[in-house]
Amino acid sequence: MSSSSVKSYSSALDPLNKAWKTPLLFPTVKPISSLISLFLKAGLALSTVFFFSLLLRLSISHYGQPYNSTTTFNHMLHTQRTQHEPTNVGHIVFGIGGSAATWHTRRHYTELWWRPGVTRGFVWLDQNPSDTDPWPETSPPYKISDNTSSFKYTCPYGTRSAIRMARIVKESFELGLENVRWFVMGDDDTVFFPDNLATVLSKYDHNQMYYIGGNSESVEQDLVHFYTMAYGGGGIAISYPLAEELVTILDGCIDRYAHLFGSDQKIQSCISEIGVEITKEPGFHQVDIRGNPYGLLAAHPVAPLVSLHHLDYVDPIFPNMNRSDSIQKLVTAYKADPGRTLQKSFCYDPLRNWSVSVSWGYSVELYPSLVTTKVLEMAFGTFKTWSSWRSGPFTLNTRPVINDPCEMPLVYSLDSVGNAGFRETRSRYRKNLLRECQREEYKEALGVQHIDVLASRFTPEMWIKAPRRQCCEVMNDGGSRTKESFQVMIRECHRFESITRTLLKAWFNTKIHEIKFEDEKQTDSEFQAKLESNIEQLESSKSEIKDQASDQVQIQIYSSILELATVLVHPKHSKFQISNNNPANQEMKNLDLQLELPSLEPTDLDAGTRSLNDHNPNKWGIELAEEEDDIHGD
Ligand SMILES: *[C@@H]1O[C@H](CO)[C@@H](O)[C@H](O)[C@H]1NC(C)=O
Ligand SMILES: *[C@@H]1O[C@H](CO)[C@@H](O)[C@H](O)[C@H]1NC(C)=O
Ligand SMILES: *[C@@H]1O[C@H](CO)[C@@H](O)[C@H](O)[C@H]1NC(C)=O
Ligand SMILES: *[C@@H]1O[C@H](CO)[C@@H](O)[C@H](O)[C@H]1NC(C)=O
Repeated sequence: MSSSSVKSYSSALDPLNKAWKTPLLFPTVKPISSLISLFLKAGLALSTVFFFSLLLRLSISHYGQPYNSTTTFNHMLHTQRTQHEPTNVGHIVFGIGGSAATWHTRRHYTELWWRPGVTRGFVWLDQNPSDTDPWPETSPPYKISDNTSSFKYTCPYGTRSAIRMARIVKESFELGLENVRWFVMGDDDTVFFPDNLATVLSKYDHNQMYYIGGNSESVEQDLVHFYTMAYGGGGIAISYPLAEELVTILDGCIDRYAHLFGSDQKIQSCISEIGVEITKEPGFHQVDIRGNPYGLLAAHPVAPLVSLHHLDYVDPIFPNMNRSDSIQKLVTAYKADPGRTLQKSFCYDPLRNWSVSVSWGYSVELYPSLVTTKVLEMAFGTFKTWSSWRSGPFTLNTRPVINDPCEMPLVYSLDSVGNAGFRETRSRYRKNLLRECQREEYKEALGVQHIDVLASRFTPEMWIKAPRRQCCEVMNDGGSRTKESFQVMIRECHRFESITRTLLKAWFNTKIHEIKFEDEKQTDSEFQAKLESNIEQLESSKSEIKDQASDQVQIQIYSSILELATVLVHPKHSKFQISNNNPANQEMKNLDLQLELPSLEPTDLDAGTRSLNDHNPNKWGIELAEEEDDIHGD
């Protein structure tokens, strides 16, 4: 507004500006003295009003425009009392979008995760459910949504129910429930994993404005419905302060975005007007895919599993089971160890050259060859895109499913989960009956009928750390290994542990039996003593290395003997040399021995997986580098 004439002109026309048209602003001319007194009085009156309204406002709320002063006041009192308690399931109010006509066919999804008396929230229905069936006690209580007939909806291919769904956050907020930190909206076919949801939300300050969720897996959906959006089926988490601002603008905003198809698009558009962006969490799954979801579930990112959606639109997640039984099976695993559900670990059996990929609570893949982590972490493309049923693109990378069983791993599906001691679980995975490869290298692996996985329980505190995939070991000693089965133990990785080092360590242990790289426990001198005791034994096989200069490459051994020894690998000559390069350990200085390396011929890994030998003539996949720096630079 540049001039007062414009101001009075616009305020005269705009009904919203009527409030400004008080007589005080347009006083008639009076003598100077009374004018001054008028200004003083007016100023005093105004500042008094201002002071009291400020006081009232402050006493009611410390943020923004309060919607319901009673509610906000109670919320504030309660929040102050419990501020420092970590977020738990009880701090969340769920809003499930349902309808009276379909609840009886959809309710089994919500009832899988709903815990009466623990989880809070409502199913929002379009009308009263029929009187003939009593409302099930295992379902969340229901509420009837407000009439939305006065709102605009102009999307030609959608339905007006999107308005009702978008308003669930507002209607939930207006219930004025106490001690609420987050509102979480989902569909009636969303399966939430509430403990993990709370774990994820507890990372964020609920006194800030957060909008949390995930995208569609199908790029074609994200192009149409925005990458900036938390997809409704995967679940939308809105912190209390954001909900408090959102409810003040939501209704007008719904009309402004009348052309948008879905409730989640409308919510995102309104939140965008506040200026808040989505915080993406990889555990929210819209499951906008078709076909077999195996690849997606078996390649879960290192993040808690928060939700799964659209399970009626994909094949049952376990083979030879119907949909409801198979999701129930995953929930059984979730109940045994929520935080570990679907978490991956990769390990190698150095005696048999096998690779094992565990997706805890779901499946184990057994490869009768050494396969790099980079390959193992990538999802098998067992599924299609949501609307066009194409084989991509997705927001995750996929590797092809190959029709030849000799190009694929053996797959074991969850059979049972139980306790193994106080803090551990034992889960058993049974071989899926698929077409089998008759080649020699598969022969021994084909005999394995089940694999047992031991793992400690994954506590929520572990998810507060920077995400790191856990390590695992194939247990080759003790009575745990038979022709039909073997055990895998999952544990936290040690410091400096990597697959590279694990393979190296395994190799040492198979070649020189006495040397154990028991990382934390073994001191350098203990290690040295063991190494020395083996020297005599090895002396006989010692042979001279020719043209040492040109083709030797260095690797550091990352362990407690870190910087103690450098391993020199001669790819052409298959020779190993250990030399001390830690000046602090003088006794080790002259240690120098050579060992036979395993054969170095390239392996013929299948076309779908890339060879271990891409960068490296050493079959063991040990990262080699000409310069030491390259080891860290990759
Ligand atoms: C919603 O309101 C409209 C107009 O006020 C009315 O015609 C309609 O019957 C109402 N719908 C329901 C379900 O109450
Ligand atoms: C505000 O919330 C209180 C308590 O939840 C309720 O009794 C009251 O009717 C609400 N007021 C308004 C204006 O909605
Ligand atoms: C799924 O299978 C189980 C056992 O075979 C059966 O009891 C259940 O009724 C089936 N559920 C559906 C929805 O078909
Ligand atoms: C494992 O691979 C190494 C290196 O290629 C080879 O020397 C060894 O014989 C293999 N072991 C088995 C059991 O296949």
